[in-house]
Amino acid sequence: MKADLQFDDNMRLNRFLAEAGVCSRRDADTLIFARQVTVNGKVIDLPSFRIDPRQDAVKVSGKRVHPQPLVYILLNKPEGVISTLQDPEKRATVVDLLKGVRARVYPVGRLDYNTSGVLMLTNDGILALRLMHPRYGFVKTYHAKVSGVPSPIAIRRLCYGVRIEAWSGRYEKTLPTKARLLKKTGKSSVVEIILREGRQHQVKKMCAAIGNPVEKLMRVKFGFLSASGLALGAWRYLSTAEVAKIKSFEPEPITPTPKMNKKKPGQGRRGMTKSNKPTKRKIRN
Ligand code: URA
Repeated sequence: MKADLQFDDNMRLNRFLAEAGVCSRRDADTLIFARQVTVNGKVIDLPSFRIDPRQDAVKVSGKRVHPQPLVYILLNKPEGVISTLQDPEKRATVVDLLKGVRARVYPVGRLDYNTSGVLMLTNDGILALRLMHPRYGFVKTYHAKVSGVPSPIAIRRLCYGVRIEAWSGRYEKTLPTKARLLKKTGKSSVVEIILREGRQHQVKKMCAAIGNPVEKLMRVKFGFLSASGLALGAWRYLSTAEVAKIKSFEPEPITPTPKMNKKKPGQGRRGMTKSNKPTKRKIRN
């Protein structure tokens, strides 16, 4: 079932061409600058020119381009699939799994090649940006199988923020999260982590920082959406009610759990000792 026959009513010309499946946004800029694009019969050479796709007639090299309805897809991503649209190494991509979907959809955030679980894809660029912003509070729930068993102090450090390496190479503290130990299985254990942010390899870096590297990672929920009923590699369109619920979503503040104990006299910052300070570890994709 296609959830929503909705269209954006005010969008930039380059985004319209990309979302209508003509080409990428960058290639759309090139077409527009090359004066190949008309809106209601007039040449427009400004990529940011705003149009109403339901009213305005857009043509590329004389051929009419029709708007694509907005689609919202939920995929249960298996491991061994990349969540970008193309891969220079020619590995399978999430789009290869979406047989029968004609719209040009993009993943909302990313899951690593070897991470499985819930991934939303859409051609609604505005909603995607909102969902990815930590302020919107659309949280992501992960189950990480980690080596060893994190101590209660280590779990508390996950909740209150640990320093992880950012793109810039600098170490930055993660936002407050909820984290708990779900089960112990011999030499490893399963930790649940609920994140507002979506930094690259965030869960792996956070677990490495507390000394319990991730062995296997699954995203079990994206906001209120779970992969329940979807086999690995399967997908479905979101229902109209689900899309409406996402659009009217009101974030709840994340209060870290468990609560931090009061500092004892003589105790260092956040109970950190030399042995539990973050260590720099290499993360594999
Ligand atoms: N954190 C990670 O480390 N990897 C993912 O794929 C998602 C979150």
